[in-house]
Amino acid sequence: MTNKLKKLLVEKASSGTSPWCAYVYDLPALATHAQHMKQHLPQNCQLYYAAKANPDVRLLNTLAPHVDGFEAASAGELAHLNEQQFGKPLIFGGPGKTTEDLQQALNQHVACIHVESLTELKRLATLCANGSQTQTIMLRMNIALDGIAGSKLQMGGQATPFGLDPSDLGTALALIQESQHLEFDGFHFHSMSHQMSVENHLKLMERYFQINREWESQWHIRSKVLNVGGGIGVNYQCVDEQFNWEQFCSQLDELIKQHDLQTRQIRFECGRFVSAFCGHYVMEVIDLKQSHGQWFAIGKGGTHHFRTPAAQSHNHPVWVHRNGQAAVVHNSTANIVGQLCTPKDRLHHQLPVQELALGDYLVFTLAGAYAWNISHQNFLMHAPPQVVYLE
Ligand SMILES: Cc1ncc(COP(=O)(O)O)c(C=O)c1O
Repeated sequence: MTNKLKKLLVEKASSGTSPWCAYVYDLPALATHAQHMKQHLPQNCQLYYAAKANPDVRLLNTLAPHVDGFEAASAGELAHLNEQQFGKPLIFGGPGKTTEDLQQALNQHVACIHVESLTELKRLATLCANGSQTQTIMLRMNIALDGIAGSKLQMGGQATPFGLDPSDLGTALALIQESQHLEFDGFHFHSMSHQMSVENHLKLMERYFQINREWESQWHIRSKVLNVGGGIGVNYQCVDEQFNWEQFCSQLDELIKQHDLQTRQIRFECGRFVSAFCGHYVMEVIDLKQSHGQWFAIGKGGTHHFRTPAAQSHNHPVWVHRNGQAAVVHNSTANIVGQLCTPKDRLHHQLPVQELALGDYLVFTLAGAYAWNISHQNFLMHAPPQVVYLE
């Protein structure tokens, strides 16, 4: 826990206000981390932020100076990003784009649209022709990943609704050629999230580079950009053993040279690995009870604020911040749960605790990505958490 966070918790506990629960975002830590990511990438690589991981305006503004642009995966995200006027390119992906979504993207003059199906491609070609507007596009491809280890969340390498099947590539390229208004920039690949292995991710990059070369020679095209997606994982179990970004970047540099891709742009659109580390979700212990021999600590809040542990089916890393009351639980374990009337509202199963009392704070780390924004916030109509920004 950082000193700034500790100070905030001490201040909050001594303020005597009613039970507290909050997201706490460390903005300088986010800026430093994004800078670090960008600085280690090979020269011809770009870092975009996938806003779906956390579209909080203060986070986006903190990231803006350090990233090359932002990726939106819905018309809503696109409008939200556009409102901020970052002066950075916006790119638009995601399956199931309607005619209205595509028209909005055209009106906003997005830098690139990632086309995910032949239907989308036809819709876009028609809109562009009707409006005499040119649009840069990339084709998102779902390629075979034989021999490459998968992760726990795969969008590609198997039957999924994402991207184009390689068997549709010829038709897609013919449609682009027929259209006077679509500019092909290259291929987009986002095959998996939760990647924990540098070696496997490099193999994935290599597969993308190889297939791009094959397609360039087969179809007589040239990709200016390769969007290699996001997908770098966060280790929620061993928090000190995270994906080695520096090592990945230095080996990627070699790989780019081996494949003679120095003159192309390699674009990353990372979400989780960018914003997860800067966020904490804090719940105050409001009840402690025993049930059939097990302790339960009920925190203010729950999975309706912080669905990450339920979504990942994991025990989320958490610290206990003691607030000075006499401990009720000693050298035992406690299930950390929230205020919802469902047994699924559990954030940590049998957490070992030395001491725990009413009024203590449970501080969940790695809560800056796919947390508040993926939660079922209206279930039971509890009040939302506070949001505090450490500056
Ligand atoms: C197309 C696309 N790009 C980028 C991302 C961001 O992935 P991550 O947060 O794992 O980096 C996702 C996540 O679902 C995605 O679907």
